[in-house]
Amino acid sequence: MGFKQGIKSILFSVLSVNACYLFAQGPEEAAREVEKALHLTPSVENGKKVYMICTVCHRPEGWASPDGMYPQIAGQQASVLIKQLADIRARNRDNPTMLPFTSPRLLGGAQEIADVAAYISQLPMSPNTTVGPGYELALGERLYKEECAECHGQQGEGDKKDHIPLIQGQNYNYLIRQFDWIRSGKRRNADTKMVKQIQRFSPREEFAVLDYVSRIKPPEQKVAKPGWLNPDFPNYARMPTPPMPAMPPMPAMPQMPSMPPQMVR
Ligand code: HEC
Ligand code: HEC
Repeated sequence: MGFKQGIKSILFSVLSVNACYLFAQGPEEAAREVEKALHLTPSVENGKKVYMICTVCHRPEGWASPDGMYPQIAGQQASVLIKQLADIRARNRDNPTMLPFTSPRLLGGAQEIADVAAYISQLPMSPNTTVGPGYELALGERLYKEECAECHGQQGEGDKKDHIPLIQGQNYNYLIRQFDWIRSGKRRNADTKMVKQIQRFSPREEFAVLDYVSRIKPPEQKVAKPGWLNPDFPNYARMPTPPMPAMPPMPAMPQMPSMPPQMVR
């Protein structure tokens, strides 16, 4: 095999391997899918079926894990969910844990994305969210009003139109991770105006503003009643803390010999 032919066959095999393993990628592909999904009529009923696979990590409620590994997605703007799903799938936002579950084979196409987004957006939000330490809330509030409210809304409710995320009731650690990734450019799908706006935040200002954000309560009608669990997934194995094994009976203590009288003081 000549050199040129060798290169050709290597190139061919790399390309065909890519074609087998990867689906369409890049910001343009994501934007195309977002446009398509936004113009479809979503079915909440089908969204519930699609969401089944997401419960593996996001649980039936779609609430944040206390450590902030998983975000609260329940109650998020549908347009934001659509954009994040399309971006993650097209590798315009890194999420290696979730990526395999966004393949067209498992998640479906633009219709399924629209459906699952509609389903998640109507889920009630967690009544118990994790907040920051509460050290500098006055500074946080001032910064929020000056630097964030213009886009994210006075109450962090987001905006459907420009896919601006709802950030009220979000987990504190998750907020910090996303803020850092947005600022550093690791989250490639970020809003360029926001990236610029937050460049000069000191760590003190960042923690203060995100602490304040984590404490903005969603309106009552968006929040689940105490004790609510999603009835749509009655068979979800919740892995309750296993019942404590019955304690083996304590071995009978040997009778203490009675003290000899001279040791008693
Ligand atoms: C294997 C675990 C896993 C599965 C399954 C999974 N996700 Fe995720 N998802 C994550 C993790 C982890 C994050 C947070 C990633 C980060 O920090 O950026 C996330 C983030 C998200 C976000 C971004 C939220 C935000 O605030 O920006 C959305 C939306 C989302 N998931 C929806 C879904 C949907 C819908 C499904 C089902 C089709 C799904 N996920 C399945 C692990 C998973
Ligand atoms: C110019 C408008 C704008 C400003 C100002 C802005 N943001 Fe954003 N922010 C956005 C948009 C748009 C996104 C979603 C980007 C995307 O599509 O991934 C976002 C995303 C976020 C996220 C990630 C949410 C998630 O669920 O993953 C956080 C957290 C956030 N912003 C916090 C803030 C804070 C705090 C401030 C103020 C210091 C701020 N933003 C200022 C527009 C803005």
